[in-house]
Amino acid sequence: MEEKCGTTNAKALREDRKPSVVWLRQRLRRWYQSHRRMFRWRTEPRDPYVVLVAEVMLQQTQVWRVEPALERFLERFPTLEHLARAARRDVLVAWQGLGYNRRAVHLHESARAIVARFGGVIPADLVQLRTLPGIGDYTARAIAAFAYGKDVAVVDVNIQRVLSRVFFPLQSQAEQMPIETVRRIAEQLLPRGGGRWWNEALMDLGSLVCTKRSPRCTECPLRRRCQSAGMLQPAEQQAKEEPCYRNVPRRLWRGRLVELLRQRSSCTLAEIAELLFGSAAADDVAWLRNLADQMASDGVVCRDGERLELPP
Ligand code: ADE
Repeated sequence: MEEKCGTTNAKALREDRKPSVVWLRQRLRRWYQSHRRMFRWRTEPRDPYVVLVAEVMLQQTQVWRVEPALERFLERFPTLEHLARAARRDVLVAWQGLGYNRRAVHLHESARAIVARFGGVIPADLVQLRTLPGIGDYTARAIAAFAYGKDVAVVDVNIQRVLSRVFFPLQSQAEQMPIETVRRIAEQLLPRGGGRWWNEALMDLGSLVCTKRSPRCTECPLRRRCQSAGMLQPAEQQAKEEPCYRNVPRRLWRGRLVELLRQRSSCTLAEIAELLFGSAAADDVAWLRNLADQMASDGVVCRDGERLELPP
């Protein structure tokens, strides 16, 4: 008898489609062998440093943007020791094109902490990984699985979507199951010794086939046992709500400010207001001062009175 998983919402389940663990693993393994994506961070033998940098970049940036940025970053800082020894300003300059610059600060702090506390060896242990700045549960799991082949479930947005659809009869492309439910299923499915390929295969399936807005169910290796195959209706896109100034999201102003400081050694708040808004009116400068203070407390800029620069 094959083990069954994913058993909630029994009434609506399509009984003839319940996937078994063995069947799922076999189908996905075969698909992955011919469809897997190749990335710099997946080259063998795995370099945990490359995986660490890539995973931090991938936290909030799409793969197509990460690939060239990662190459440039690794040319500039080829090893963890190079990164740990670098000036903060140089790390922020090398982060160009990725946005969310606080991640560069965290990555730099992590490199220094790994040298200081772990003798320069990136830990494989989830608890130790989580003590590093900017490394949350997801990134710790991704490093443990992808760099060290540990058998831990890694649930990113792609995997959450794939497992939600396979195990639950969903009607809308926007719908998915809560992360805790999906994580429980992911833990049950993970083949022993397969932490690396299994998580990568699910990620690739979510990215190439089981996409958010145009799922290609007819091409999916899991379609015969997927609860949602052929059922997913398009959903209206929800506009993201976020704090804005002059109708531009605050996070973009943060990025633009860092970009200005990458080009110049230092600038006054009034000069920056003029360059960003075309105005150094009191309101603009005051808003910028507040933004700069927050960015300084994140370690992304240094403020000395009215003057800003990247940290040394
Ligand atoms: N391979 C390993 N980690 C990944 C990620 N976060 N996104 C896409 N592919 C990956």
